[in-house]
Amino acid sequence: MLEALHFITCGSVDDGKSTLIGRLLWDTGSLPEDHVAALHTDSAAHGTQGEGLDYALLLDGLQAEREQGITIDVAYRYFRTPQRKFIVADTPGHEQYTCNMATGASGAELAVILVDARKGVLSQTRRHSRIVHMLGIRHVVVAINKMDLVGWSHDTFQNIEADYRAFARELDFPSLQCIPLSALCGDNLITASSAAPWYVGPSLLGYLETIETASQAAEDFRMPVQWVNRPNLDFRGYCGRIASGSVSAGDAVRVLPSGALAHIKSIVTMDGELPHAQRGQSVTLTLEEEVDISRGDVITPADLPVECADQFEVRLLWMSEKPLVAGRSYALKIHHQYAIATVTAIKYEMDIQTGAHLSAKSVARNTIAVVNLSLNRVLPFEPYARNRTLGALILVDRLSKETVAAGMVHFALRRASNIHWHSLDLDRTAREQQKEQKARCVWFTGLSGSGKSTIANLVEKRLHASGKHTYLLDGDNLRHGINRDLGFTEADRVENIRRVAEIAKLMVDAGLVVLVSLISPYRADRDLARSLVPAGDFLEVFVDTPVAVCEQRDPKGLYAKVRAGAIKNFTGIDSPYEPPLKPELRITTVDTSAQDAAETIAALLGAQPGPQ
Ligand code: ADX
Repeated sequence: MLEALHFITCGSVDDGKSTLIGRLLWDTGSLPEDHVAALHTDSAAHGTQGEGLDYALLLDGLQAEREQGITIDVAYRYFRTPQRKFIVADTPGHEQYTCNMATGASGAELAVILVDARKGVLSQTRRHSRIVHMLGIRHVVVAINKMDLVGWSHDTFQNIEADYRAFARELDFPSLQCIPLSALCGDNLITASSAAPWYVGPSLLGYLETIETASQAAEDFRMPVQWVNRPNLDFRGYCGRIASGSVSAGDAVRVLPSGALAHIKSIVTMDGELPHAQRGQSVTLTLEEEVDISRGDVITPADLPVECADQFEVRLLWMSEKPLVAGRSYALKIHHQYAIATVTAIKYEMDIQTGAHLSAKSVARNTIAVVNLSLNRVLPFEPYARNRTLGALILVDRLSKETVAAGMVHFALRRASNIHWHSLDLDRTAREQQKEQKARCVWFTGLSGSGKSTIANLVEKRLHASGKHTYLLDGDNLRHGINRDLGFTEADRVENIRRVAEIAKLMVDAGLVVLVSLISPYRADRDLARSLVPAGDFLEVFVDTPVAVCEQRDPKGLYAKVRAGAIKNFTGIDSPYEPPLKPELRITTVDTSAQDAAETIAALLGAQPGPQ
């Protein structure tokens, strides 16, 4: 029996997608008894097919559930024939559902793209095809449906097939089959139909039953470790699902990223010990040698390891309402590994209709873009085109935990392996000792005119008077120098904060007490700054002044200019400010003087009490 076939259907409800899936489930006897009974009753009551059964109702029930938000937006359905098992992902097809389609397509080897014979190849057909191509699906069936409504016209079929093949040439699918059918009447769906004597190819099910999608033959062995099983001191097994290739007891293996070498002692499975195992099997491997392996490491053949890198070019499908902005960092998950990833550059956005590369500063929801990512650690991987398990990643918002993007690794950037970190002989501790102080980063955040710079300036004076070595990085001042090229769009602010955070990090390493005064309106960016210095050495000070008070004070006359329409994107007015959730300190300037606030902070940093 062939491996189970995982496929996705693309098309809107009008194309007959629900009928097609409903009928496949029905005719293969894959529906529970109660669904069958319900279909008879429902078809009689609300069906659109007269006396006949309305297969679309089977799925419409689920559709309704979906609209109420009860289930997720991808429904997986299972059916089987004596030849094969099938998993079909049913996803809504409209433009706004690109994300759901992408979710359904991940893991699928084949896509059935529905075309209405009366309408031919539409822009939606092209969009669906590009998305499945982008997700690495290489087997495509174009189901030219509703042939009964065009009188089973051979010409119509041939024209649609020619149109599709002309479009798909650039996508270069290695396997592409066009099938004329009528999902409603059942022609060419399960069995060959006599309605189109000119068509000599297989029925849809016949084709799906026999297609070989696996190219495992020449695949190398890769197993990402999901769990280290150590029930007692005598047993240590590495559990995971074999992502590709096969493995046998006695094989020499390499563990990445460490590169450690070992030999397979045994392969343990639910069915007992096996001499070998292959792609798709979940196994526990034990090794002859004691090596240090943790979750997320990848086991490969000793002579055919995967690459390890910390900078990649990846293709992203952006799924969040909040646009992607270069410079932001996200939690990244790739197979069983986690890292923190920063988008270092947006290279281009892809036009899903035409495939054209468009330049972009930010990436909106449902958009595909190619970006560079920089990780905080080196991870084993493979390009997605070669290995979908080791090359697929997701990005997660570090605060809200929302999955913001699905991504596919193109390749590692050479830079990653060519730039090394120089270990220097003098370190932060040595520098701190010389200055007899503990280095810190004190990050003041708040609206323009909230009093950040005034307080930071007083704190620095107090620290200086106590013999501390300090430096004040002030937003306004830096914008005259290192950040003079940046404005106040979201992207520019992200970059502004990233640069200052990196400078602050170096200054902490230099042993200084660094005071930073930036509006820094976005939580994610302040969190990035926090993550750059060791835990405990970062103090976020929220200078909490209501916008109305800032406007009333208006020390630089900027609020007046905003009201006169001379300044746009002004924080607190027409650009957002996200207050800190858990700052180390919150100062309400309406009832605390700048002097008092500065005393409190300086004391926290170990300054001697000042003159009263
Ligand atoms: S941040 O948002 O990127 O952190 P930053 O602290 O560097 O801002 O700079 C803010 C200062 O720039 C304000 O104090 C104000 O003097 C000035 N400024 C000019 N235009 C704007 C604007 N549109 N929004 C906020 N601040 C502005």
